[in-house]
Amino acid sequence: MPAQDYGKPDQFLSLLKAESASGYVSGQALAKKAGISRSAVWKQIRRLRRYGYTIESLHGMGYRLAGETDSPVPWELAKALNTSFVKNIVYRETVDSTQNLAMSIASKPDSHGTIVIAEQQKSGRGRMKRKWLSPKGGLWLSVVLKPSIPTAQVTLLPFVAALAVCEAIREGTKLDAGLKWPNDIMISGKKVAGILLDISAEAEQVNYAVIGIGLNANVDSSAIASRLDAGIMITSIKDELGHETSRLVLARLLLEKLEHYYLELERQGPSGILQKWKQRSDMLGKQVSVTQGSKTIQGIATGLNDDGSLLLKAGDKEISIVSGDIKVRY
Ligand code: BTN
Repeated sequence: MPAQDYGKPDQFLSLLKAESASGYVSGQALAKKAGISRSAVWKQIRRLRRYGYTIESLHGMGYRLAGETDSPVPWELAKALNTSFVKNIVYRETVDSTQNLAMSIASKPDSHGTIVIAEQQKSGRGRMKRKWLSPKGGLWLSVVLKPSIPTAQVTLLPFVAALAVCEAIREGTKLDAGLKWPNDIMISGKKVAGILLDISAEAEQVNYAVIGIGLNANVDSSAIASRLDAGIMITSIKDELGHETSRLVLARLLLEKLEHYYLELERQGPSGILQKWKQRSDMLGKQVSVTQGSKTIQGIATGLNDDGSLLLKAGDKEISIVSGDIKVRY
């Protein structure tokens, strides 16, 4: 059996769980069992509390683990996940951007299936070089894939991810989440999550792709309202439900669904994914305006092409839109 390392939070947690199963355990006893100092015990207790565990302490008695976390810490997420593609979970309390960290990992061999997840990001990135405010309470993660799909289909990965996030929210919270082109996840006309794709590809093959997922889970919308630069209203799961939800459950659901739809894309091509995306979108058949820099195009959204571009009927012309910000007139 490998040697225990009680400097690692998950191993210290196991010890605390075992030792406090039938009551309080003193700091001294924990220090002795773990072979670490009293102050190292205190540091671990503080760290586990920061991760969301409830640890009661009683003067003269010691500590007791009184509640589990709902934060997607790697050992809990790995235990809960039923996927085959997640190979490695990199977790940070604070990072500049999970996307940047994931990109630096992506070029290495065996990086396929690496998840980078952070409690908060200092320089989170959104689409179109926008800032993505990422305070504590959100679900901010990036997924490294080395996909065996034709380079032409790589534009569909954000659709796969958006569909997965939408389905995860629906199942995990029962909220009526829907999709807005290209990859926004909406609740009641407000944006609750977004997807960012970074790739390294050549004409014939995709070297790697990093899918960034930003889900406003347990954050107050007011704390991220300045993201409203594309004129889109913002919401969070917490604001829609009126209470917090388990980010661990949401992370599990969205990674499981991501694997499911990704495998569907790999094995069966884009048509099924695009069909499901259309079913979850309420913008088709509606009047929309597309802003591309200083240009705005008006028209009726009629469908999606096989590469995920949006079909727009503008007057008597049918045009394909590859990028832009969309406003839907409901
Ligand atoms: C959008 O503009 O809608 C996309 C937002 C994507 C944000 C996520 S949060 C995790 C990952 N890290 C980043 O810096 N950005 C993405």
